[in-house]
Amino acid sequence: MMMRMMKLSLAAVLVLLIAAVHAESAEMGQAKYEDFKKPKYCGACHREIYQEWNQSLMSKSFVHEWDEVEYFKLALPHAMKLEKVSGVKAGCIGCHAPLAFLSGDIPPKPVADKTRANEGVSCEICHNITGSKEAVPFNFSYVIEPDKVKQGPRKDAESPVHETRYSEFNRSPELCATCHDEQSPYGAWVKATYREWKAGPYAKEGTRCQDCHMYRAPGKSASKGKERNDIAHHSFHGSHDKGKLAGSVDIALYSKKKSVARGGTLDFRAALFNGKVGHYIPSGSTEERMLWLEVWAVDAAGKKYAVPVEAKGFKGEEYTIADRKATAYQAMGEIMEIADYKGISRDGNVPDGSRIFRKPFFDPQGRMTICQWYTAENTMVDYRIGPRETKIEKYAWTVPEDMEPGRVTIEANLYYSQIPSSVGEFMKLPADEYAPVLVNKAAIEVDVE
Ligand code: HEC
Ligand code: HEC
Ligand code: HEC
Ligand code: HEC
Ligand code: HEC
Repeated sequence: MMMRMMKLSLAAVLVLLIAAVHAESAEMGQAKYEDFKKPKYCGACHREIYQEWNQSLMSKSFVHEWDEVEYFKLALPHAMKLEKVSGVKAGCIGCHAPLAFLSGDIPPKPVADKTRANEGVSCEICHNITGSKEAVPFNFSYVIEPDKVKQGPRKDAESPVHETRYSEFNRSPELCATCHDEQSPYGAWVKATYREWKAGPYAKEGTRCQDCHMYRAPGKSASKGKERNDIAHHSFHGSHDKGKLAGSVDIALYSKKKSVARGGTLDFRAALFNGKVGHYIPSGSTEERMLWLEVWAVDAAGKKYAVPVEAKGFKGEEYTIADRKATAYQAMGEIMEIADYKGISRDGNVPDGSRIFRKPFFDPQGRMTICQWYTAENTMVDYRIGPRETKIEKYAWTVPEDMEPGRVTIEANLYYSQIPSSVGEFMKLPADEYAPVLVNKAAIEVDVE
């Protein structure tokens, strides 16, 4: 008993020590909630920007159901029992509820308590950030000066209630990188949207994150502001917006043959071109995102035959072809202390044989995980589609002997999901958080003779 108490208090001291190190390396506890104005206050003049921000995920980064569940049911309990990941107790909050982080309110109260943690990534966060402590920012390494001076993109802005200062940093993708790139306690890059962008064609052409995620249109940014022809809007649409996602990858199907005999084989291919996304798709929370291509042969009577993708033979490919029998995510059950937990379906309800464009993450025991903070390795296989990259998938469909002759349609449907359905069901999330969204589709017709 004595020993156990000793251990407990030692662990508590360690947690405190680590928190202290964090406070030094980041900006934790350097301010108070009252140092920051509420978004509604800014919205009195910046009405449209406020409405857009309010509809975007930026305002929901703490209150959004899956964020709350993952922090309070998985990350926080894990941080309390495993020293190596103890830093995420404050770390998640550094990006998801920066006001709580800066105020040292760690862990914040749950959403229902309606503290100011709920404001998420608010106006005063982005517009008071002056730079980053890192040359190439990541892990909430922002430097923030909570005062009346608002950092912005213009040299001639004048406001009656606050000062404004032109900021190169505010206009740069490095601002976004402070939260959109993340390294796990094991040193794995578990979010790398900025680094992906930087290595790709859009950075070279000078197309910033802001250019694709903050559209520009004529108007005023404030009720007493100047008429301008390029006001930066705050929609921040990403994969959670069905319209933003739609058509982001083109599909071209091609078959040499126009007809095939029963019992014969139809060879065809699908080319998938990412012509719209400035980084990989999927990006961001890669540990739980899937993009997959379902291919079906549909006969004249509407009967469907699944057509599996042909394997290419690269290392780790098994993680990129849907397999109902594969299990994963054992760490979730361990954190939740469920006895005899063997994991759950790796791919949820993705049909067997579909190609999955994903980057699997592995925990220190080599099991696939959606716990990005518990990720030790994620470079073994990266089968996502890079900016302006095309992936070619091959298919060889053996036509059943007993099939009726006639017209057959080969259909290819590309879907995206935020979270594997198995994980969504296990964590009891609302179904619309993980329902598949159609990104694109294509079809060709052949005759079965
Ligand atoms: C009383 C009205 C009012 C309130 C309240 C207000 N602003 Fe402004 N703000 C303005 C006006 C006017 C401008 C100038 C717009 C222009 O030049 O077109 C401006 C400009 C800005 C700019 C642009 C600076 C630039 O470089 O282009 C930012 C950023 C900004 N405000 C942020 C905020 C934030 C954050 C809040 C809340 C803390 C806030 N404002 C509250 C009126 C207001
Ligand atoms: C995630 C960071 C982020 C958040 C949150 C954010 N902004 Fe901005 N805001 C920016 C960036 C970046 C720009 C400049 C865009 C560019 O350079 O194209 C900007 C531009 C502006 C401008 C100037 C627009 C123009 O074109 O003149 C105003 C005003 C402004 N923001 C106010 C606000 C207000 C008010 C809120 C909260 C309701 C808010 N911002 C929330 C990042 C943010
Ligand atoms: C202070 C941290 C922070 C900064 C700075 C920041 N973001 Fe974010 N952003 C977040 C968080 C946290 C989320 C996730 C919200 C959620 O789902 O809980 C997010 C969500 C998004 C999304 C929505 C993605 C989706 O899945 O739909 C887009 C797009 C986005 N950010 C773009 C940007 C851009 C562009 C910038 C720079 C101008 C930026 N962010 C700066 C923290 C930040
Ligand atoms: C050329 C346009 C373009 C540029 C540049 C761009 N994005 Fe995106 N981004 C998109 C599109 C389109 C989507 C929706 C498809 C998707 O989810 O990949 C998207 C999705 C996202 C998502 C959701 C990720 C996912 O796949 O779930 C985030 C977060 C994001 N972008 C952040 C950023 C940041 C940060 C930058 C800069 C470092 C950036 N984007 C640069 C076009 C762009
Ligand atoms: C370096 C900043 C950063 C840190 C640290 C961070 N996140 Fe995030 N988180 C983000 C951003 C940015 C996104 C949005 C990416 C995207 O759209 O795919 C996000 C997305 C998420 C999502 C997905 C939301 C959705 O709608 O699917 C969850 C859940 C989440 N984070 C929980 C956590 C937890 C729990 C921790 C701590 C273990 C954490 N995050 C640490 C920046 C961060």
